[in-house]
Amino acid sequence: MSDRIARTDAAPAPDCTLVIFGATGDLTHRLLMPALYNLARWKLLPTHFAILGVSRTEMSSQDYRADLTERVRGFITQKGGEAGGGTFDDAVWAGLADRISYMAGDLADPKTFASVKERLAEAPGGGSVLFYLAVAANLFGPTVRRLGEAGLLQEPEGAWRRVIIEKPFGHDLASARALNREILGCLSEEQIFRIDHFLGKETVQNIMAFRFGNGLFEPLWNRDHIDHVQITVSETVGVEGRGRFYETTGALRDMVPNHLFQLFTLVAMEPPVSFAAEAVRDKKQEVLLAAPSASPEAAVRGQYTAGDVQGRPVKDYRHEPDVAGDSRTETFVALRLAVDNWRWAGVPFYLRTGKAMTRRDTEIAIRFKPAPLALFRGTGVEAPIENWLVLQLQPDEGISLQFGAKVPGQTVRLDAVDMRFCYKDYFKIEPSTGYETLIYDAMTGDSTLFQRADMIEEGWRVVQPVLDAEGSEPAFYAAGSTGPAEADALLAREGRAWRPLHGA
Ligand code: BG6
Repeated sequence: MSDRIARTDAAPAPDCTLVIFGATGDLTHRLLMPALYNLARWKLLPTHFAILGVSRTEMSSQDYRADLTERVRGFITQKGGEAGGGTFDDAVWAGLADRISYMAGDLADPKTFASVKERLAEAPGGGSVLFYLAVAANLFGPTVRRLGEAGLLQEPEGAWRRVIIEKPFGHDLASARALNREILGCLSEEQIFRIDHFLGKETVQNIMAFRFGNGLFEPLWNRDHIDHVQITVSETVGVEGRGRFYETTGALRDMVPNHLFQLFTLVAMEPPVSFAAEAVRDKKQEVLLAAPSASPEAAVRGQYTAGDVQGRPVKDYRHEPDVAGDSRTETFVALRLAVDNWRWAGVPFYLRTGKAMTRRDTEIAIRFKPAPLALFRGTGVEAPIENWLVLQLQPDEGISLQFGAKVPGQTVRLDAVDMRFCYKDYFKIEPSTGYETLIYDAMTGDSTLFQRADMIEEGWRVVQPVLDAEGSEPAFYAAGSTGPAEADALLAREGRAWRPLHGA
């Protein structure tokens, strides 16, 4: 096993202040603060650095820090959590906590921004500020506008001002365009970091390394050799108390034009000329530009009913708190997409994602075209062996290749066997939230792993016809299953089938 932990060879981020709007929210508690703690542990935070948390709750900085300490300790030490399974280093946290202050403020009130400005004047970051909008999506536009009105987005000599915006970025094409217009009225594109946390995952970043760092796969990576591609993000969790958010969002908006499209574009993109942000983002955008808008006939929307997920009883989605008794919101979606270019014409990309499924499984599976069977005529081999290359992104991160091998014996028989690489066998993987890389990159001004305005809009354009066709009764599937039968039929009518779900 290699002891190499890539992060340790990077330099600390440049001096700045991080202002978190939504400082008492779940995202800050569960992901941002543990990520900042990890960055502190890896010595990647700026030398001169401060964090200012802003939220509506009245509280002193001291109480805020005390509350955070317990929460972060819990997340870091909790087994099975995003950042969990590690030991909590009190000295590292104390060093970070010393730099955290808090102020109560209402984002609808210009006075809040005047106070932030005063605080920033005393901050040690040399005038550079990263604003993190960990707030509800309807506040993204107005908050950026108020930051602009307060003069907080103007870059002082030798310093920078940047804004991280969370998802969901818009809820359809029109609203995403409107939001882009609004924020681009106050900021330049280089100042905007639209986050998609899937891009913070090591295994997702490895897709490009795997494709372009090896001479082996790229010559096969096209319509001549690939039959189809399946992208699966299956979750065992249900809506977990997020009914209010989920009712107006649904699986398609929550997962597809963002997370699944990151996987789709990384797998389908042409090689970029370099790893420079625009070189990579241009190639990803070209995939979306070549993708015809999804057809509602080639889409399945599903909703879970009561069932059992790995021994845990799950109630009907319609009985979840804050969910309408006759809700038609989808908790599962499957789509067939295409990329109409020289590399991919004729190769279907099937995407599916769902909640309360039987297993947690995020994978990209590439099915190669079969070998001709003629040679095996008259032997025990009746069907070609399926050649699959599977990038298992979570859990059990790894890559496997399925091919046929002769079953030992006097007759000719083939069986499918697996060649498998597991990350944990080769690399020492530090527990992390995925936000570490993204926060660090935003501080260093590297936009490669962030969404550009045109990419967001193109993603919404692709799914818009399916959004327009919403409102019909979803197809039902029992919690703890692999999704509705209609999703199986989507592939069956083209002579294909979904791979069984792997993972835990
Ligand atoms: C979020 C979605 O963006 O991603 C959630 O809002 C989903 O509904 C989550 O569960 C999945 O992310 P991860 O990192 O747990 O695979």
